[in-house]
Amino acid sequence: DAGHYDTGGYEHYLLKEICEQPDTVARALRGRIDDRFHIAHLGGLNMDARELRSFRRVKIIGCGSAYYSGQMGAQLIEELARIPADAEPASEFRYRNPVVEGDTLYVAVSQSGETYDTLAAVQELKRKGARVLGIVNTVGSAIARECDGGVYLHAGPEVSVASTKAFTSTAVVFALLALHLGRVRDLSPAEGKRICDGLRRLPEQIKEILTLEEQIRELAIKYSDAPGMMFVGRVRGFPVAREGAQKLKEVSYIHAEAYPASELKHGPLALISPELPTVAIVPDDELLDKNLTTLEEIRARNGRIVMVGHRATDAADDCIVVPKNENELDPILLTIPLQLFAYHAAVALGRDVDKPRNLAKSVTVE
Ligand code: G6P
Repeated sequence: DAGHYDTGGYEHYLLKEICEQPDTVARALRGRIDDRFHIAHLGGLNMDARELRSFRRVKIIGCGSAYYSGQMGAQLIEELARIPADAEPASEFRYRNPVVEGDTLYVAVSQSGETYDTLAAVQELKRKGARVLGIVNTVGSAIARECDGGVYLHAGPEVSVASTKAFTSTAVVFALLALHLGRVRDLSPAEGKRICDGLRRLPEQIKEILTLEEQIRELAIKYSDAPGMMFVGRVRGFPVAREGAQKLKEVSYIHAEAYPASELKHGPLALISPELPTVAIVPDDELLDKNLTTLEEIRARNGRIVMVGHRATDAADDCIVVPKNENELDPILLTIPLQLFAYHAAVALGRDVDKPRNLAKSVTVE
């Protein structure tokens, strides 16, 4: 807890934890990449290859940022392992009497391992005979104990209410799980190597992103007087947008809404004006042209745009350019500038960044 873990010279735990990510991501990877066979070593799964091959679906549950990291995870599992996967808030899942299937792998995500809604969902799954893995930070926590197996993040204590390093470590663990599931199914060794090499590059690339802090701070100040912000992303970029909006809401209290970029024209485009700037996630992948078209649509309605992506574009007012990794892994990196953006917007507005009003670090009651 905060007692034996101080801010280490940083002004807030939130900033400290953002800046720790080169190390925490390295720790999530340590000992888990096999360079000979391009597979992941995840000893705690307690499931052999035969069992892992038998799953026909993956369902991920969690709350808040854990849920958004689960959306990122579902995308990784579908892309790398080609197993249908989706994420759902643990609370919704538990209240709707879900159909529990024997050939579905359930994955519960929780930084604290104590979130009541997630724990209750896991207990319900176990009651109905499901196989449940946990992706958890806190060793020996209630959710970790309840699951059949799992993967620890080893991110160290996260004190700031707004989750940052646990989010990126969870996404990294999902990439390892997706690699593992893929390699016991039909992901080729060459594709496995491509992902292993990409994962290994992450800590250095996160360091590079952290050097953009001053530029991001200036942008956060520039946009912090906006009454609200729109966050848009497509497919891989959508969980990034959701987590970016969540961070901004939690710590700055600026209203933020995340939307799939493709859905903008089906409703929220009506909101676009200079008073509602957009943060657009624009990775340099096969959807780049589609995303640039979205930027033009926003511009045509006099919307201001902060683009977060891999190459600057005139279609945006401001651009935050981050290093490129493999398309599947880019969302992990694209999340980090949004953490810094939320942090500096909150500081500019004089908010209590580590302990935002009305929120608790872990919600252990119903
Ligand atoms: C609370 C926190 C969120 C967190 C969520 C899930 O609502 O305010 O920041 O994402 O719980 O926490 P967990 O410990 O289960 O990841």
